[in-house]
Amino acid sequence: MARRNRLLKLTLGILIGIIASQLIDSDSSGFCHVEKNMEVSPLKLIDQENARSSNKNLLFVGVMTAAKYLDTRAKAAYDTWGKEVPGKVMFFSSENSYSAHVPLVALPGVDDSYPPQKKSFMMLRYMYEEFADQYEWFLRADDDVYIRTDRLEELLRSVDSRKPWFIGQTGRGTTDELGLLALDSDENFCMGGPGVLMSRETLRRAAPHVDRCLAHLYTTHEDVELGRCVRRYAGVACTWSYEMQVILYHNQSGPAAFSGDLKQKEVHKAITLHPVKQPQNMYRLHNYVKGLKIQQDQQDSILLHRDIAMSMQELGYRISSLDTADLAENVPLFPVGKGSDGYLGDTSILGAPSSLNRYTPRDLKDVLEWELISKTIYSHRDGNPRRRIGTSMKEGLNDIIIEVMELINAYSNQRGRIIDFKDILYGYWRLDPIYGVDLILDLLLVYRKYRGHKMTVQVRRHAYVQQTYTGIFVKEIDTRNTTGSLVSATESLPVHKKLVNQLFSKISEKLQPILSIHNITTDTNINFILPLSGRFNTFRRFMKTYEEVCLKEMEATKLYVILYKEENSLEDFQKTLDLVEDLRQKYPSSVLRIIWTEEKFARGKALQLGVDEVEEDGLMLFIDVDIVFDKHSLQRMRRNTVLNKKIYFPIVYSLYNPKFLNETLSERVNPVTPDVINEDNGFWRQFGFGIVSIYRSDFKNLGGFDLMITGWGYEDVTLFDNVVRSGLKIVRTPDPGLVHVFHQVKCDDSLDAEQKNMCLGTKASTLGSLRNLQNIFLKYKDLFR
Ligand SMILES: *[C@@H]1O[C@H](CO)[C@@H](O)[C@H](O)[C@H]1NC(C)=O
Ligand SMILES: *[C@@H]1O[C@H](CO)[C@@H](O)[C@H](O)[C@H]1NC(C)=O
Ligand SMILES: *[C@@H]1O[C@H](CO)[C@@H](O)[C@H](O)[C@H]1NC(C)=O
Ligand SMILES: *[C@@H]1O[C@H](CO)[C@@H](O)[C@H](O)[C@H]1NC(C)=O
Repeated sequence: MARRNRLLKLTLGILIGIIASQLIDSDSSGFCHVEKNMEVSPLKLIDQENARSSNKNLLFVGVMTAAKYLDTRAKAAYDTWGKEVPGKVMFFSSENSYSAHVPLVALPGVDDSYPPQKKSFMMLRYMYEEFADQYEWFLRADDDVYIRTDRLEELLRSVDSRKPWFIGQTGRGTTDELGLLALDSDENFCMGGPGVLMSRETLRRAAPHVDRCLAHLYTTHEDVELGRCVRRYAGVACTWSYEMQVILYHNQSGPAAFSGDLKQKEVHKAITLHPVKQPQNMYRLHNYVKGLKIQQDQQDSILLHRDIAMSMQELGYRISSLDTADLAENVPLFPVGKGSDGYLGDTSILGAPSSLNRYTPRDLKDVLEWELISKTIYSHRDGNPRRRIGTSMKEGLNDIIIEVMELINAYSNQRGRIIDFKDILYGYWRLDPIYGVDLILDLLLVYRKYRGHKMTVQVRRHAYVQQTYTGIFVKEIDTRNTTGSLVSATESLPVHKKLVNQLFSKISEKLQPILSIHNITTDTNINFILPLSGRFNTFRRFMKTYEEVCLKEMEATKLYVILYKEENSLEDFQKTLDLVEDLRQKYPSSVLRIIWTEEKFARGKALQLGVDEVEEDGLMLFIDVDIVFDKHSLQRMRRNTVLNKKIYFPIVYSLYNPKFLNETLSERVNPVTPDVINEDNGFWRQFGFGIVSIYRSDFKNLGGFDLMITGWGYEDVTLFDNVVRSGLKIVRTPDPGLVHVFHQVKCDDSLDAEQKNMCLGTKASTLGSLRNLQNIFLKYKDLFR
């Protein structure tokens, strides 16, 4: 409504203008000066009779750059925000500059020396002489500034451009410049970096005098002198406004600014951002801002869908039948159907009003459950009832908090208060399969009132947040020209066809081609590398599994046991040698090798000894003697480990202490049967990275193990870390074919207090499931007193 009113007024104003000019015209012929002015700007508007066309007349941006930056900073600025200016952008450089990339003015008689005072003043004069009557606003910008043009437009349209304005981030010089800038105590200037805005009137008053300003420079600061010139001849000072620091944002960290995390309050609030020294950061920032815009547009789209749904309900339509609804006879609400280009999306889903009850369960089993977020996340759905909050959820929560705080603070200025986020005390979240994610957050906030009765208090607020699905988008990427093994596999079908086939045909049949994109040959040799020190009984069990799964079945595997000969386990040592020898006799074609050493045990070193035995291009499996496995797990290793590409870090299922389990379990577990895996018997060992399937050459390229680490532990985490930092992909997923059988953890008294605590914690968590422990506690309650 408001917009239409404005448009009406505008049109009226122009009409009156035309009538007036005709009156003047007929009255006298001595007014051709006025007539020329009238012709240039307002009449153009009426030609197209479209408020949008005035976009083109709002703003002229003059960017000061230098010859050496034309192909870098200037190009980046022009490629990004420069294309979206509601008006015109031009770049100003020294005499004889040339660029094929940007609209350039090579200012005669100007060089690229610093400070660029002459460039700045000459640019001002150029803007005045060429464009003063075409644009309402003029922005003097540097080539390292990013401008959110849509927001700038919004700001400028709210200010009367007929008045003399000089808008920027107000500066008075640093403390050591005090008295050196030749400014009186009430005088200021607009700091150049984040951009300086002048209305047409300001330019009209100041620009004719630039020669005189240039002849009377007091300092070497370009922006200070510009401010002086504008103050003297246009009679305006830079706007005194605290808010300018926020909307014309300057980051203090120099060249590092905007190279890191952009998800910051400052970035979200600003209209101009400065300084963006590296062109790649300019593009990156632009993408980020576009991302924000897409989010906003999606939000708007959801709101419009809701409007449609609500209006149609008022008209008596059921929300589920909107697809086919008519507005009038033969005037369908949605002119195009699913699958067409102009399809608007499913209003019955997208238009559902926000409410915690929009999903209604029909059945007991359909009731959605909430998970509790606190310092950790408590979940009934996971093997680990309490786990740390993963990075993805943290990131999601961060996004939500930023958005919630922006909403809460939307009217902060008017109300003279600001509310800051402090902490999430607790929260609940659930995934609603049809509409999206629901969240309830208990927020700890700091309320600061800075007007009237000033105060600062902590407050708690509940936020109910819904993240609604926005519909499915498919993007088709032509992979034919990219390198990698996908090339031949996707040649025949466009990607979206493949995707659709795979989504909608029988999964079991169609999944096979995806998996076989990589050359999987089931007979890839797996080299087992098993460090061992004592523990013969456990080793016997391991070898039983190995015999069943590998030797009897003629699997392509080799086994390297790195055996430690230690004083206190000489008997185990001998028995191990004998057992392996027996098997070697029984399966003469198999490769079973023992590498023994008398060094002090270190898992990293032991594995390295095994690695040395494996051929150059071999696939290796680092395994522990506590693990039992089945033949499916071997297939998964072959499939998930790809030379130069992927490394498989399976998450193994760890059995609890058998004392708390069904006694027969440890026998049934060998070989593994799927029904072993449930909440009571064990848990997924998310913190374990020791079992790895990796190609030898990849391992070598990663730098192998840190051989300085002794005993158990850390060498695996270090390797995982290295892989994360390398370009290789990690396949990390629970493998139901790998089971870690319980063995007693000994927490050495020689460990320091913290390590011992950690060890005891691990020990306690492998004891038994919460439910079993609870039952035992209840049964033997008296003993615990
Ligand atoms: C701005 O500077 C501060 C410190 O000088 C830095 O921590 C922050 O990440 C910077 N912000 C951006 C968006 O680069
Ligand atoms: C594939 O890439 C090469 C150079 O990388 C290019 O010359 C060729 O035109 C590209 N072909 C297609 C079909 O895009
Ligand atoms: C797939 O494996 C076979 C047999 O090992 C080999 O001959 C063939 O070249 C491989 N193909 C690709 C694309 O690597
Ligand atoms: C142990 O497991 C077996 C096989 O699943 C089952 O039949 C038996 O009832 C279980 N015993 C106990 C005490 O849970």
